[in-house]
Amino acid sequence: MTAITVDGKAHAAELRAQLKIQVAELKAKHGITPGLAVILVGGDPASEIYVKNKEKMCVEAGMAAFDFRLPDTTTQKQLLAKVEELCRDPKVNGILVQLPLPKHIDETAVINAIDPLKDVDGFHAINAGRLATGQVGMVPCTPLGCLMLLKSVLPDLKGKNAVVVGRSNIVGKPMAQLLLRESCTVTIANSHTKNLKELCLQADILVAATGKPEMIRGEWVKHNAVVIDVGINRIMLSDGSTQLVGDVCFPEAIQRAKAVTPVPGGVGPMTIACLLANTLKATCIQNNLDDHLMY
Ligand code: GUN
Repeated sequence: MTAITVDGKAHAAELRAQLKIQVAELKAKHGITPGLAVILVGGDPASEIYVKNKEKMCVEAGMAAFDFRLPDTTTQKQLLAKVEELCRDPKVNGILVQLPLPKHIDETAVINAIDPLKDVDGFHAINAGRLATGQVGMVPCTPLGCLMLLKSVLPDLKGKNAVVVGRSNIVGKPMAQLLLRESCTVTIANSHTKNLKELCLQADILVAATGKPEMIRGEWVKHNAVVIDVGINRIMLSDGSTQLVGDVCFPEAIQRAKAVTPVPGGVGPMTIACLLANTLKATCIQNNLDDHLMY
């Protein structure tokens, strides 16, 4: 049987189209336009591209985008003052501070200065706690996108063995929480995990978020598993050109799996679509319009 290459681009386009309709309804019925503020400190080229894309998609969905580019020399105090100002601004429903921040700034302090109701990244300790305890809150965009792609090929996740390779606050931990909420049996592995290959071979659902190019080989994949690849790594080929690859060796994994998300065109596009979904969700919650919630 041929494995499914999960089309994240198509799923993301579909979600953005649905959101655009809901945003138009919100405007027509309530005169509210969701607003997302994006703060970028410094000129990291990769972050510049991500931020530009986030703002473009936001405007395309009918939302307002507020863009703040701050220099590398911005102090923590100045950044905190900007975040606090945006927390008070009623036109701003979502605040995203692009990570990583320059070394002299304490990321945790900045994340926790964001009003949890405007924390569209879902990184605030309150939102992490809400997710862990099954309460409504903002859910981090990348794991949320992963869950949507996973459910598109495996609607009932109950009782499945899920292995998440990676334990970051942005992906691994919230991913594990979402899978627990779906009644999976969840293992979170990390770089010290013993017998990682054998562990992965037990996984009906394998989520790779290691940041190590093509680390997960085909022979680590259980037959008929669903593989979600969160990695985006640029590697140099022998002819000097470069290529984007995931944390999973796609050509090998596709030989054994039921479905695999490709890189690029898998999880990546879903992250931005889920950021827009979170911005709409935050806007609805802030305006006591919970009936607009999609999830
Ligand atoms: N840097 C890489 N991914 C992310 C993300 O999802 N949110 C923010 N704020 N920064 C990032």
